[in-house]
Amino acid sequence: MNHKYPKITEVVLRDGQQSLIATRMKTEDMIPILSKMDKIGFSSVEVWGGATYDCCLRFLNENPWSRLKIFKKYFKKTKLQMLLRGKNLVGYKEYSDEVISLFVKNSVKNGMHIFRIFDSLNDINNIKSSIEFVNNEGQNSQGTICYTTSPVHDEKYWIKLAKNIEDIGAKSLAIKDMAGLLRPKVCYELVKRLKKNLNIPIHLHTHSTTGLADATNFKAYEAGIDNLDTSISSFSNLYAHTATESLISMIYDDKKNPFNMGLLSEISQYFQSIRSKYNEYEGSLRGADINMLINQVPGGMLSILEKQLLDLKKQNKLNDLIKEIPKIRADVGYVPLVTPSSQIVGAQALMNILDGKRYKTLNKEFVDLVIGKYGKIPGKISLKLKKRIENYDYGTDINFKSIKEHRADFSKFLKENNIKDISRQDTHLLNFIIFPKESKEYYQAKNKSSMNDIIGLQEGFGLYVE
Ligand code: CO
Repeated sequence: MNHKYPKITEVVLRDGQQSLIATRMKTEDMIPILSKMDKIGFSSVEVWGGATYDCCLRFLNENPWSRLKIFKKYFKKTKLQMLLRGKNLVGYKEYSDEVISLFVKNSVKNGMHIFRIFDSLNDINNIKSSIEFVNNEGQNSQGTICYTTSPVHDEKYWIKLAKNIEDIGAKSLAIKDMAGLLRPKVCYELVKRLKKNLNIPIHLHTHSTTGLADATNFKAYEAGIDNLDTSISSFSNLYAHTATESLISMIYDDKKNPFNMGLLSEISQYFQSIRSKYNEYEGSLRGADINMLINQVPGGMLSILEKQLLDLKKQNKLNDLIKEIPKIRADVGYVPLVTPSSQIVGAQALMNILDGKRYKTLNKEFVDLVIGKYGKIPGKISLKLKKRIENYDYGTDINFKSIKEHRADFSKFLKENNIKDISRQDTHLLNFIIFPKESKEYYQAKNKSSMNDIIGLQEGFGLYVE
């Protein structure tokens, strides 16, 4: 059989390190290897977005925009790619179109080419404006389907969603399998159907958590996928992705292989050499985790919940918690479990278990999810849950502040703290808008020019599944 060779996106600088060492990799540990990575011939490198923005400000005392500028400087041939959470940008709340537009413009200005845009509910309305803004800037808007399994998610559902994404103007499509649920044979059929029905290139992003990723990537290649995501071998597998070198070895004969395996090996050795610095952030997984296949709970989510139970000395409740998550998911119309819905469902499950009664205490975010504030739910809300939230005080609706108002707030904060007024600079302003608390701490610390080590102060934050 003769197959077209897929292009390859290297994800170690974003998702690889996000999945394996809780997004703690510092820019200074990336810089020495970037020029070599640029020589490989990857179609793109995923370097930014997802949790990296948050972690730069929250844990690393770094400005995420400075990191992006460094990538732009070193990646001269390779396109830069980022992950964007639709209307939530790189945060957890909804932002106005004015803020989304400002964010996209500045990302492009600082070097971003490909924006993979997803919504945790697969609600097309939540990704539409980002796609438009990226198109306006002449860059690659990649619409995303967040893959999950449920009675409402069949092949027909995915094809219709993918067609809609193409119709609203996305320049490429990603199948995003954050929990490693996509089985090889199912993937083969899905990619075949997508290739038949769509004109835009199809990318696959799957995780190794359940042990299926290598086979799934290979079947995607057989079905004619245009692009696959991999992570360099020393940052591969477990919660992360198929190893870059392994995937290349799977699809190419030695003679036809256009990739410099020696150089890839040097890159892998480099990342191997810095990984031990981040030992304390490694997850507990040592092999494949089949919980997701059996219990429908993503591995990344499970490890954080396990830790939270341990902190509360309730580790004996873990099994109840594992059983509770799919029940809640069914109650809320089978939402895919990905940031932020994974955090929301996880937190509510924890509440139900600790209370010993389902939905006795309701998290505000959970209620917002149920009443559709995050977007359209794929299936139906259970009647019991509907009844339970009937009497809940929803509070007032969010009123978006204008950029002008945000700028005035930022300027006021800077003045009060005797910090030079940088509120006219859009990238600093965006830090302030998206992560007000974290960026205040960041700018205050910077101002004291004491590089206070704020790493590790906010233990337990997370549940990143993307
Ligand atoms: Co991912």
